[in-house]
Amino acid sequence: MSIENEQDLIALMRIGRIVGLTLQHMGAAVQPGMTTAELDAIGAEFMAQHGARSAPILAYKFPGHTCISLNDEAAHGIPGDREIQPGDLVNIDVSAELDGYFADTGGSFAVPPVTSENQRLLATARKALDAATNAVRSGLPLNVIGKAVEKVARPAGYGILRELGGHGVGRSLHEKPHAIPHYFNPRARERLTEGMVLTIEPFLTTGATHVKTDEDGWTLRTVDGSLSAQYEHTLIITKGKPVLVTAV
Ligand code: CO
Ligand code: CO
Repeated sequence: MSIENEQDLIALMRIGRIVGLTLQHMGAAVQPGMTTAELDAIGAEFMAQHGARSAPILAYKFPGHTCISLNDEAAHGIPGDREIQPGDLVNIDVSAELDGYFADTGGSFAVPPVTSENQRLLATARKALDAATNAVRSGLPLNVIGKAVEKVARPAGYGILRELGGHGVGRSLHEKPHAIPHYFNPRARERLTEGMVLTIEPFLTTGATHVKTDEDGWTLRTVDGSLSAQYEHTLIITKGKPVLVTAV
């Protein structure tokens, strides 16, 4: 969507804050021995308390309130009876709706003991998101996003998952523009416009640039077992710095 008026802005910021707080709340609750279903239930309760509804359920009948993906799973992991282990990388993706507005956020968390390699992967994925959010402004082409992510990921020796792009969001979970590349694609020339609402959510890996879908039909896993980390914000494009809708 594109922000048209004050009402759009207020409603989007409201759901943005709720998903941001949900992610923070779930991230703080992560501990070894907990199942991913238990972690999902913590998020579900928090969203319900704030009147928000899970977007993956609304939009896709996803079998969970949030997506929880461990280690070589990049995205769309189904919460279940699997126990989180010491040393795991836990990616949590939270998207939800309130009053007809949607926001989407995500982040990766390292379970102690944290290896220096995991620490570096998370820090670089965070830096890639920051670089991309700092690069966007109205009038520039969509490919500035991928260019900024590559500039961080490549020298660090990390892969960028190709199939997982950013997307428009706001009146539904996934809107135009679809599949905004996080790698540099010169053909992604569509212009960013003032008020445009989109996500930036680069997935960095210790090698892979592609994912495959598990037999469960949902979970996206790196093709070679390499680890994945992701941070995601919903943001509003302006003439200057974007508004980070899901930052809390
Ligand atoms: Co997301
Ligand atoms: Co998203």
